[in-house]
Amino acid sequence: MKVLVFGAAGIVGRATFAEAERRGWTVTGLSRGACDVTDAAAVATAVAAARPDLVINCAAFTRVDLCESEPEAARLANGVAPGLLAEACARSGARLVHLSTDYVFDGTARRPYLEDDPTGPRSVYGATKLEGERRALAVDGSLVVRTSWIFGAGGPNFVDTMRARMAPGAEPLRVVDDQTGAPTWAPFLARALADLGESGAAGIVHYQNRDTVTWYGFAREIARQLGTTVEIRPVTTAEVPRPAPRPAWSVLDVERFERLAGRRVEDWRAGLAEHLNTSGER
Ligand SMILES: NC(=O)c1ccc[n+]([C@@H]2O[C@H](COP(=O)([O-])OP(=O)(O)OC[C@H]3O[C@@H](n4cnc5c(N)ncnc54)[C@H](OP(=O)(O)O)[C@@H]3O)[C@@H](O)[C@H]2O)c1
Repeated sequence: MKVLVFGAAGIVGRATFAEAERRGWTVTGLSRGACDVTDAAAVATAVAAARPDLVINCAAFTRVDLCESEPEAARLANGVAPGLLAEACARSGARLVHLSTDYVFDGTARRPYLEDDPTGPRSVYGATKLEGERRALAVDGSLVVRTSWIFGAGGPNFVDTMRARMAPGAEPLRVVDDQTGAPTWAPFLARALADLGESGAAGIVHYQNRDTVTWYGFAREIARQLGTTVEIRPVTTAEVPRPAPRPAWSVLDVERFERLAGRRVEDWRAGLAEHLNTSGER
């Protein structure tokens, strides 16, 4: 299998590149410096040169709050670029696997979101990611993988932020307890992306790790695994206002993935243990 990874320097990009190498695939990874995915000519040249079977797009404007003040930049990277990638794939006979997010939903559900549930993004990030899904899926054979709450090496993430704040003598932490989701360890996600890429699945697939938890519960498990006694206080979303609204409910139904892959999704606690053991470096 010949694979081309865009956004290869990000958290998911790095893990995906490593997973492809582990499988013995021929893999090329392009960071933003090597290819800006908003540049149609650069995307076309990169795909034509690599002649991949599979393109995995891990590039995105992921700073959710910044998207609110830079909507045009967010739209180009998250909304327009996936269409450029899908068209380049169509011309080269490659299949596109594109990453999306729970933020395409309004977060008001009380059961896991199915792939075909109505969307309703409440932030610029969510709206631009939804546009990206539509543009990617406009080309037959494209696959969109929606995921959530990613942690891993290679970029800012909740686990590393919490770990830094849990140093001995740290002030009590205040962590939101009214947003529920499921953490996802990047190397587990990378394995899922590779499996799905190999399977030829198209359309939308939801993938996140099990089980569901709030950010507060997640922080408590991080503290437990680190063996720290730092005080963690539950707070409400309203107590920590942010520029972009966060979904209260980020739970995705992963049944379609489990059917396609023939296995259950992994437990994030196992990924957390590995991440903490390797000091976040992989
Ligand atoms: N992190 C999460 O919790 C989460 C949850 C659900 C879905 N996702 C989705 O998962 C995917 C991967 O996210 P991630 O967590 O790996 O994010 P990340 O660590 O921020 O990686 C994204 C990468 O894309 C690059 N990039 C940004 N704009 C680009 C452009 N115009 N051209 C080329 N590269 C560009 C970034 O480079 P710079 O750093 O130089 O900007 C960065 O290396 C994204 O589609 C994201 O929307 C993430």
